[in-house]
Parts: sequence; structure tokens; C-alpha cells
Amino acid sequence: MDKKNQHYSTQFPDVRVKVHSVSESLKHHLYLFKTITGVFSFKKLDLGTKVFIEHMKIPEEKCVLLDLGCGYGPIGIVLAYLTPQSTIYLTDINKRALWCVRENIKYNLSERSGKVIVLEGSYFKPFEAKSVKFDGIYMNPPLRSGRREFLTLCEDIPRYLNSKGLFQFVIKKKMGAEYIHIYLKKHLSELFEIIEVTFKRSGYWIFCLTSF
Ligand SMILES: C[S@@+](CC[C@H](N)C(=O)[O-])C[C@H]1O[C@@H](n2cnc3c(N)ncnc32)[C@H](O)[C@@H]1O
Repeated sequence: MDKKNQHYSTQFPDVRVKVHSVSESLKHHLYLFKTITGVFSFKKLDLGTKVFIEHMKIPEEKCVLLDLGCGYGPIGIVLAYLTPQSTIYLTDINKRALWCVRENIKYNLSERSGKVIVLEGSYFKPFEAKSVKFDGIYMNPPLRSGRREFLTLCEDIPRYLNSKGLFQFVIKKKMGAEYIHIYLKKHLSELFEIIEVTFKRSGYWIFCLTSF
């Protein structure tokens, strides 16, 4: 594969390492993220991620949340900053992303006392030997690997959600947000109590699926 365009959704990106930094004010707080080539949107915060963070629902009570496919960690780190009472998991398949997220936890969450746990592996593989369930799963999905993979993942999600848990994610309209909405309503309405698009901005749709 052409190295310049090599995809980030790989365990070992084969592109020369160059470290960057991204600073962004999110929900009235300034974050500084270390990023590297080979990691999703390493030059600046992805607009879909930004719209998502600004509008995601965050439970106020003590709970367990997962940033699935965390990249360098913006979603999970904002969740961890805003919910010090909760336990936050961040997972990804890409080793460089995981290096960044560990660094970014040190920079941005140095005073946080609650648990922030980083795990490596494909989707729910890191939880196979654990009995953990989540109150919220948050995601900016890797749709370049195909819609089918994401829709199959959606079918797995209820097994990992507590009752009334929320699966929230963002999809670009051009990447098929409307199709995904129709598909979920038609094929997954027995798996989720509520399937809704909660917000639309700048060509991005935010979904919130509530488990039974
Ligand atoms: C669109 S990016 C979003 C990254 C980050 N959440 C953000 O918003 O900046 C999708 C992420 O999913 C990760 N990913 C792709 N396939 C995966 C898999 N099978 N298991 C876990 N993570 C995966 C990629 O490495 C990438 O970091």
C-alpha cells in the first residue's frame, strides 16, 4: 500500500514516525493531545469527533463508559475529565494510537483520581475474559473498512451494554448516515429500545441507541 495513504486501522502502521500536537477547546476546557503519523486525524481534531464530543450525552451518576476505537483519545479523555466518578475504558487496535492515548492521559488527566483503563485489541476482544458491561459506549467508527463491519458490530453492542445503556456514535452524511439510520430501524429494532438521531451538524449525524 502507498505509505502516505496507508490506513490508520491497522495494528502496526508502516509510515515514518512524526510526532504532532493538537490543541482543542472542548466543552469549555482546553486539551492538548500528542499525536503521531499513522493515527486517525493526527494533524487536527476530526470535525466529526468535535461535533460528537460537543453533543454526546454523558451520564451524571457513577458508571462505566467505553471509548471504542479511541485513536489518540479525544472522546474518552473528555469523558474521563467530565466524569471523575466513573470508570473509563479506551480501546483501539492501532499500537501507535495506544501510545498516544497513554501519553494524553498523563497530560490531560493528571489530577483525575478515578480509573482510566487503556486496552489493546479488536473491538470487544479485550473484554473477552472480563465480565464488564458498560453504561455508555462512544464511537467515531472506522467506516473506511466498510459499513458492513460496523453494522455487524452494532448487533454485538447490546451484549456489552447494561440495561438502558447508551450506544452513541457519529456518522458523516456522505458516508451513509441516512442508510445506516434506515438499516438500524429496519433490522435492529428488536435489539435496541430506542434508535434515534439526536443531532445533525456540518454534515454529521449523531446517533443514540438505547438498550432494553
Ligand atoms: C474514525 S477513527 C476515530 C478515532 C478517535 N475515536 C477519534 O475520534 O479521533 C476510528 C478508530 O477505530 C480504530 N479501529 C479500527 N478498527 C478497529 C478494530 N477492529 N478494533 C478497535 N479499533 C479499531 C482505528 O484504529 C481508529 O483509531
